Amino acid sequence: MAGGRSALYLGASRLGDGRLDHEGSARLADAFMHAGFDGVDTSNNYTEGRSEALLGAAISSAGSVPDGVALSTKADADPVTGAFDGDRVNRSFEESTQRLGVDRLPLYLLHDPYSITVKEAMSSGGAVEALVQLRGQGLVGAVGIAAGPLPLLAEYLATGAFDAVLSHNRFTLADRSAAGLFADARARGITVVNAAPFGGGILAGSAASAGRYAYRPASAALLRWVGRLGDLCASAGIPLAAAALDFSLHHPDVDATVVGITSLQRLQELRGLVNTPVPEELRLAIAELGDPPGNPP
Ligand SMILES: NC(=O)c1ccc[n+]([C@@H]2O[C@H](COP(=O)([O-])OP(=O)(O)OC[C@H]3O[C@@H](n4cnc5c(N)ncnc54)[C@H](OP(=O)(O)O)[C@@H]3O)[C@@H](O)[C@H]2O)c1
Repeated sequence: MAGGRSALYLGASRLGDGRLDHEGSARLADAFMHAGFDGVDTSNNYTEGRSEALLGAAISSAGSVPDGVALSTKADADPVTGAFDGDRVNRSFEESTQRLGVDRLPLYLLHDPYSITVKEAMSSGGAVEALVQLRGQGLVGAVGIAAGPLPLLAEYLATGAFDAVLSHNRFTLADRSAAGLFADARARGITVVNAAPFGGGILAGSAASAGRYAYRPASAALLRWVGRLGDLCASAGIPLAAAALDFSLHHPDVDATVVGITSLQRLQELRGLVNTPVPEELRLAIAELGDPPGNPP
């Protein structure tokens, strides 16, 4: 925790997605590095490698990753064959470190390993062995597992091979389903990274995410819940986005929160949200709403 809150990482999954021209994307990548937040999260396959390449150019013009910025990227399956064995992890690591222009990564995660079973990942010559070897060689600080489904994350954590876990959209004001996994991980000394505290955007009031939660249509129950949250926040004079961020940033089971940033304006807004104190009365009023409905398929 930094200053009573969890670390705040900027999520670069949409960096280079075409909504900004190249110059705009390059400026945003520079801003990711110099924004004064604690880390930047990307992956080999985000925007087909452009996210890492843009961040690499920003790192190159800065001379190195700025002090105080933890860089996190992820190993991805082969985009053509879906292969996700040890060889692929090593190639993915080489691709990522080349694009980023770094030799070593403080945090490196196995990303969405949906094309293989846990047994395959754990086998000799498998993805996890390669990750552990990278850590043993000092090329990676901590190894983590990043995915959506909670039972899959729990299965990977049970192997004892991982230092960190990243879950997304499942520990927010509107979906607390990762609470047990996070508490167990913390109790075992595993670093907890909570990505997508806005549920992909709806909890920040993003027009692009209206009616959607975690990148898919939201249930009517969830939309009603978000409406009630919004009303509570409005009557307290606090933006819903500030309350949504506060929930993750100040939760004792969260080590790092990852917020997706799509523009310089969003980055500026994030600064405002981080600096908006959320009154204890509003936190209590939100708690009194009871368990959120989540967004079952
Ligand atoms: N499997 C994985 O490893 C995994 C999965 C998911 C996410 N992640 C990581 O977590 C990061 C965050 O996830 P996410 O971006 O999907 O979800 P998120 O952080 O919950 O939501 C981010 C979205 O909210 C909107 N937003 C942000 N600030 C806002 C503001 N002040 N006002 C209104 N809208 C605002 C933006 O959309 P608009 O600008 O379009 O309105 C932005 O794209 C990703 O970038 C990635 O690094 C990892």
